[in-house]
Amino acid sequence: MNSSTSAMIERRRQNAFASIWREDLDTVFVDVAEYYDKANTYASLGLLPKWQRRFIDGMILKPGDKVLDVCAGQNIVGIAMLKKQPGLDIHAADQSVSMQEEGKKVAESEGYSIDSHICDVHELPFPDNSFDVVTLQYASRHLRVADAFAEIKRVLKPGGRFYHCDMQRPPNTLIEKAYLFYLKWALTMLAKFFTTGSPTKEIEYFLNAIHLFYSHEELSDLLSELGFTQVKAQPIMFGAVALHEAMKP
Ligand SMILES: C[S@@+](CC[C@H](N)C(=O)[O-])C[C@H]1O[C@@H](n2cnc3c(N)ncnc32)[C@H](O)[C@@H]1O
Repeated sequence: MNSSTSAMIERRRQNAFASIWREDLDTVFVDVAEYYDKANTYASLGLLPKWQRRFIDGMILKPGDKVLDVCAGQNIVGIAMLKKQPGLDIHAADQSVSMQEEGKKVAESEGYSIDSHICDVHELPFPDNSFDVVTLQYASRHLRVADAFAEIKRVLKPGGRFYHCDMQRPPNTLIEKAYLFYLKWALTMLAKFFTTGSPTKEIEYFLNAIHLFYSHEELSDLLSELGFTQVKAQPIMFGAVALHEAMKP
């Protein structure tokens, strides 16, 4: 992929979603917060916790490391990292006050402390070269990815590592079609069980967000284009999900 491919992907995504990201995204997460969690678990056929374990297991985390979890939501990743390495200094960044309030409560109830920063991941309120590790799970589909990754690279220390996990567009078109068909069916069924409303708009957004997203190979190329090195990708389920890691040189 050359830089014009990633620029084209970003342009397409911004044309399709800019107004949703600007005006509706908070509402999407508030309205479907409980249902969204269950939806993710059921739509992944219960495999989500396994992928999450694999994500955390693959991280190199050393005592005293300063770690930033961006788009941290309810601190699921931060808490899992602390369970693996209790000596971390963890900071969480998210634009949603309600997700972070809940995340702080959950962390404290498990005896952990995570510093919360309410901010936009595209403009992180930290100086250059601040963190040993930055993590980002299940949020890139809602971001201007190239801008957010550049910002993550800015706040990483040289030699610092970026760990990323998200659903991706499967590179094979037939698999993508089958996957989106299944996802639409699963989300519609789940909405019938778990909500009283009809979240057609939200379901359409989630499906389109995958259709217009990067494949795991394209995301690796983007990381290299932005100047990250040692880029590695682990596609899961024919590339419907992928784990990436990369280093700031
Ligand atoms: C699906 S949740 C994922 C939360 C968490 N990473 C996890 O894996 O459970 C997506 C989160 O990204 C946050 N988010 C979306 N756009 C953001 C932005 N531009 N800046 C900061 N946070 C953002 C939302 O508020 C939400 O909490």
